[in-house]
Amino acid sequence: MSNKATFGSKLGLIAATVGSAVGLGNVWRFPNEVHENGGAAFLVVYIGCILLLGIPVMLAEFSLGRGTGLDTVGAFRRLTPRKPWWGVGAISLLASYMIVCFYMVVAAWTVEYLWRSLDGSLYAGITAGTSALEMKEVFAATFADSVQSVASPLIWIAVVLAINLFILLKGVKGGIEKMSNTLMPLLFVILLVLCGVSLSLPNASAGVDFFLNPDFSKLNAGVFVSALGQAFFSLSLGMGILVTYSSYFPKKDNLTTTAFSVSFCDFLVAFLMGFIVFPAVTSFGLADDGSGLQSTALVFVTLPQVFAQMPLTQLWSALFFLLLTIAALTSTVSICEVSILFLQEKMRFSRVKSVLIVVLPLLVLSPLCSLSQGVLSDFTIMGKNIFDFLDSTTTYYMLPVAALLTCIYVGWIVPEEFFRNQITNFGTIAKRVYPVVRFLVRYVAPLLIISIFIYQLI
Ligand code: PFF
Repeated sequence: MSNKATFGSKLGLIAATVGSAVGLGNVWRFPNEVHENGGAAFLVVYIGCILLLGIPVMLAEFSLGRGTGLDTVGAFRRLTPRKPWWGVGAISLLASYMIVCFYMVVAAWTVEYLWRSLDGSLYAGITAGTSALEMKEVFAATFADSVQSVASPLIWIAVVLAINLFILLKGVKGGIEKMSNTLMPLLFVILLVLCGVSLSLPNASAGVDFFLNPDFSKLNAGVFVSALGQAFFSLSLGMGILVTYSSYFPKKDNLTTTAFSVSFCDFLVAFLMGFIVFPAVTSFGLADDGSGLQSTALVFVTLPQVFAQMPLTQLWSALFFLLLTIAALTSTVSICEVSILFLQEKMRFSRVKSVLIVVLPLLVLSPLCSLSQGVLSDFTIMGKNIFDFLDSTTTYYMLPVAALLTCIYVGWIVPEEFFRNQITNFGTIAKRVYPVVRFLVRYVAPLLIISIFIYQLI
């Protein structure tokens, strides 16, 4: 069955791809990375990584998807039949499914917190007399309960899967694109509202200083590796998502401008998040405790502490978790789509059958990941619980390997005209940009990825 689905408009295509890229990585990873690694100094390095690694890898993936109109395995198979290069797509496919297993768990926490902000139960244990320290303990205990309980994650995972199922069953245009067209503008509006609120808190400028204060003395090899890793995760490289979504791009789309727009929007969301998190956290004196700024603690413990001390607690809390839910949802849908398109193309299954085969097993697999943080924590793979094993194996090994091999494949293996035709739309646009892109894909991006591996080894 040839895949005829396409996005209906340029805006829809950008909204969907940005929706896929903007995820929890922007919200809980980026602000802390900037702060830990030299503030504005890190930003300069990070922007460099987007330009030298992110956009080239994205363009390599886009050209495979749009050029073949196929899924992440089929694209390699079509271009080099009877050669084992399809294995690169298979690594992405496998990694994407491993990621979705644990990412659904995090998405479930965000939806649970959204619900509990709306009904007020998240703040039920807090009174006017609760001290800052007690508050931290209350929220830490609430989060530990959510993570370790058996029933609650199951229910929320089922809710998240049902929403994913609903959208995915409606297809690419009627489901993914329509959802992105509605939710992404909403995400930006919420982001701006929360920025305004946070920046108007007392002592907000100290928070901005805390976030951005350029500290060039912190710049070392580790900072470069952090910036590369952040660009990697945030732009969803090596996950097969970009190949899959670009197979729905129209033939006349300018891939280079799309890659720039997507990367810019993804960066903007992450950057604006810093203006929400740091003024809020410093304003309530919560910034000194570095542990409170790290990923899960920041989102599920520190920020609820902030909201609890603000007027209109439930409103700001609900808006924040709605923002997070949108970010998570547009990402989970995109990562499921990788396997769905594969099943449609390779096995020739119908859309409905493919969606069910991809989503239904998650009803068991994601709860297993969730339980691995609680009652099943004794069950380990290579010394890690299932959740952490899936997270670290994909992030540190499978995604960089897939991206590296994709660059080598597009830059060195497939006939040169293929990449040129995709970037220049058969010689009609971007003719001057192409040599630069080709140089980045052939040399710069692979060397940067290899440098991450070398750094990790030593
Ligand atoms: N770019 C996404 C993020 O920053 O969260 C990465 C991602 C993770 C996308 C998991 C999709 C996904 F399911």
